[in-house]
Order: sequence, then C-alpha cells, then structure tokens
Amino acid sequence: MRVIITGAASGIGRAVAELLADDGDAHKLLLTDRDSEGLAAVADEIGAAAATCVADLSSPDCGDAIVAAAITHMGGIDAVVSNAGIIAGEPLVAQTVELFDRIYAINTRATWLLAKAAHPHLAASRGALVATASMSATQPTPGLGFYSSSKAALLMLMRQLSLEWGPDGIRCNTVSPGPTYTPMTSAGYDDPARRAQREAMIPLRKLGNADDVAQAIVFLLGPQAGHITGIDILVDGGMSNNLMPATGGGTGQKAGE
Ligand SMILES: NC(=O)c1ccc[n+]([C@@H]2O[C@H](COP(=O)([O-])OP(=O)(O)OC[C@H]3O[C@@H](n4cnc5c(N)ncnc54)[C@H](O)[C@@H]3O)[C@@H](O)[C@H]2O)c1
Repeated sequence: MRVIITGAASGIGRAVAELLADDGDAHKLLLTDRDSEGLAAVADEIGAAAATCVADLSSPDCGDAIVAAAITHMGGIDAVVSNAGIIAGEPLVAQTVELFDRIYAINTRATWLLAKAAHPHLAASRGALVATASMSATQPTPGLGFYSSSKAALLMLMRQLSLEWGPDGIRCNTVSPGPTYTPMTSAGYDDPARRAQREAMIPLRKLGNADDVAQAIVFLLGPQAGHITGIDILVDGGMSNNLMPATGGGTGQKAGE
C-alpha cells in the first residue's frame, strides 16, 4: 500500500509507520508531522520506503501540500491515516476563541482537508481513510471540552465521508483510543498514583500503548476490512463499559421482581 500518515513523528502515528514497515509487504509511506526532527528520526529508522513532509495541520493549505508530496514519492495513494491531534485542557468557561479555532483546525478540519485533497487518488485506488478519534468523542471528559467535542465532530465527519465516498469504493473509519501511554500522555501517567487510578477503571487493568491502537488502524486500512466502512473501533481496554460498576450494580431486586 501507498500510505500517508499524519502525526508520524511520535506515538500512535509512529507505531503505524513501524508496523507497516515491518509487516513484510513492500509498503511505501509518506510520513508527515510538524516536528521535523522527530520525523527525520522515524524516517531514518524505516529507510528507503519512507519519505517525509514537514507540514503544520493548522494551515488551510496542509491537505494539498501533503498530497502533492505523496504523489511525488509514491505515484498514488491507497490509504490515509489522519492521526495527528492535540490536547488542551481548561474548563470551557475559561477557554478562548483562539484555542477553539486551533483545536478544531488540527483535530477536525485537517482530516477533511487531507481527505478532500486525496479524494481523486483514493477513488482511483478504491482506498481507505482512517482517522484517530478518541474515547472522549463519546464520553464528555472533565477539562477537555474542546478536545472531546472536536473529536466528536471528527467521528461524524468520517461517517459522513463514508456515505459520500462509499460509491467511489473509499472506506472511511475511525479508531478511538482510551487511555494510552504515548508522549502525549506520558507526563501524566508517569505519576504512579494517577496511573493506578486510571488502570483500576479499565477492565483489562492496563493502559493501552501506541501499538495497540496502531494494530486496529492497520486492520482498517487493509483488505481484511474490505467491507467495513463508517465504523469506529474503540481501543480502550473495556473502559467505556465501566460506568455501571461505579453505581454499585443493581438496587437489590430479587430474581423475577
Ligand atoms: N494517547 C492517548 O491517550 C490518546 C487517547 C485518545 C486519542 N488520542 C489521539 O491519538 C492521536 C495521536 O496521539 P498520540 O498519543 O500518538 O500523541 P503524540 O503527541 O505522541 O503524537 C501526536 C503527533 O501529532 C503531531 N502534531 C500535533 N499537532 C500538529 C500539527 N499542527 N501539524 C502537524 N503535526 C502535528 C505532533 O508533532 C506529534 O508528533 C491524536 O489524535 C490524539 O488525540 C490519543
């Protein structure tokens, strides 16, 4: 496959690049990120299969620039992994218009821009688009009002695209990580008390890692998912099913009542 990966310098995007580079097929990768040093390090590790494109996804031109670089390097596009995102937290009452615009530009708009620019190439290859959303897209998260709502918008954008682009043979899906240990979150989870508190809420009793999420993304990219579109795969260790235990369970009814 010829694959564009955003946020490829770190965390989940890097893990997707490594997984594709190691899977034995001769994939070609266009790795993109705003972090030029991190990107160069990942490209060095992967070798000739990877080219890089330094781009800032907050720019309205980012889609065209990344797709042009992809065509130069790969001659076409079979898949796009729109994975980069940012997190920022304050109560909504304290947030600013600037932050709203920035978070939505990177977490939501960039996927549309990239998808739009890639559309003719994905239609030609009958390819796939996978975006990294979040468990927060469906679970309001204290302090992360812009983040959660930008990811909820991303989920619906991808479902819309799955409808519009299904007739072109383009599959559009999302993966939603729960708490995942990556450079985005490591500062928080390196605090043993916070990590233990979070792991206690996850039925599998561990944080996810970048590779856990990358495996789900790569599944959705490939032929095994050839008839799957418009869905979201939660990679959360079961955490989203863990609301009712906090209530203590049933209210003491006897069987049959
Ligand atoms: N780690 C988690 O617990 C978690 C949970 C749910 C969702 N996610 C989502 O997973 C995705 C990947 O996150 P991660 O945990 O690997 O984080 P990360 O910080 O390790 O990687 C994100 C990458 O995106 C790049 N990036 C950020 N803003 C950019 C911009 N404006 N232009 C270009 N590149 C930019 C960063 O440079 C970085 O390399 C994000 O969309 C994030 O919201 C992560």
